[in-house]
Amino acid sequence: MSLDKTYKLVPGTTVFDAEQSARGYHLNQFCMSLMTAENRERYLADERAYLDAWPLREEQKQALLDRDLNAAMAEGGNIYFLAKWGATLGFSFQQMAGSMTGITEEEYRAMMAGGGRSVEGNRIDHAVLEAAHADPAPPAEHAVITGAVFTSHVPAIGAAMDHAKTEEPYWRPVFEGYEFSRAWEEENLPDVVFLVYNDHASAFDLSLIPTFVLGTGAAFATADEGYGPRPVPGIESDPELAAHIAHSLIRDDFDLTLANEMTVDHGLTVPLSLMFGDVGKWPCKVIPFHVNVVQYPVPSGARCFALGRALRKAIESYDRPLKVQVWGTGGMSHQLQGPRAGLINRAWDNAFLDRLVEDPVGLSRVPHLEYVEEAGSEGIELVMWLIARGAMSDLDGSGDVEVKHRFYHVPASNTAVGHLILENHTRAQEPAEGVK
Ligand code: DHB
Ligand code: FE
Repeated sequence: MSLDKTYKLVPGTTVFDAEQSARGYHLNQFCMSLMTAENRERYLADERAYLDAWPLREEQKQALLDRDLNAAMAEGGNIYFLAKWGATLGFSFQQMAGSMTGITEEEYRAMMAGGGRSVEGNRIDHAVLEAAHADPAPPAEHAVITGAVFTSHVPAIGAAMDHAKTEEPYWRPVFEGYEFSRAWEEENLPDVVFLVYNDHASAFDLSLIPTFVLGTGAAFATADEGYGPRPVPGIESDPELAAHIAHSLIRDDFDLTLANEMTVDHGLTVPLSLMFGDVGKWPCKVIPFHVNVVQYPVPSGARCFALGRALRKAIESYDRPLKVQVWGTGGMSHQLQGPRAGLINRAWDNAFLDRLVEDPVGLSRVPHLEYVEEAGSEGIELVMWLIARGAMSDLDGSGDVEVKHRFYHVPASNTAVGHLILENHTRAQEPAEGVK
């Protein structure tokens, strides 16, 4: 299954998608730098010197020095960003658009005054379209989801590791619960972890409250949450797989926010520490996926579950033979605020673990109110686990899940620690009837 990018066939235009965005990231960010009068002045004083201070390819710099917007677009530039550059040089939008058409400014103006360019002769060539829609050969190989990991992400667990307290009587039982997990990860190391977590007022403050954020950058640094950044490596991602997932999920009507730059906080780093231990570099790539559970309304369990199902389709349509794990983090019961702080509901948590394995569809219908009432205000983090569960192949009958490990412990700081590992076994496709 390859993704539909038929829009690339429309003649005489460039559709700015995640692929183009990655190609033109620094070029477009350079354009944004021209939004202050001071920078515009510096640019105009010495264009070459200003451009050289940016990590741009020579082709990108040359396109701008040549005033060649077609070349700049081919190099990943986007017209709204390039317009900042054009404005700096005193070009109007009409001058910029006209400069790409191969006719003079006067001719372009006259064409627009005459009603604009006709769509006739500017549609996709019929033969080209038919060839594109001819049955594509299925990809010879594709990515597979090998398992799901569910775990709490309590910051105090990270602090216990960072300050060598894991052997203390308070912490020992918590870390013992993850001994199996570390060995399992060593044996089943994926190429990529798709890590679902929530940012806790670290990368996102109240100026921007996106519901779902997919990290599409190449690397993400560890956040400073007030105590200094944790002494753990930042993550390296797989931006090509992330762009593919963005394309597939958004085409499936999940309106994601894409982040090329953000820091990642304990919600992401603590699960990595728990599963991989104290390492100088994480042993695989990590794609971060943030879910808003800080300010209501937060997404429902059902929406998260549906997103997980679409995520499996996205990952398994990627035509490289990667092994991918999906992790859901946060929870279990915890209440961090108010006179109700410290609330723990063992019975509810354990029923959640049971249902996550055996009745995920029913569990996905549990309303927010129940999470808050039964598992505490911050227990709502558990909706994120439904994304990882939704990505398992038993849900559409194409495979089975196997529980490899289950662990529950109270307390770690203010929470109950819950942890589950599911292996995902996708059955080989049966040959179609009559085919031997
Ligand atoms: C705690 C737990 C969390 O999940 C979190 O994000 C912050 C604090 C705690 O129990 O201390
Ligand atoms: Fe949290």
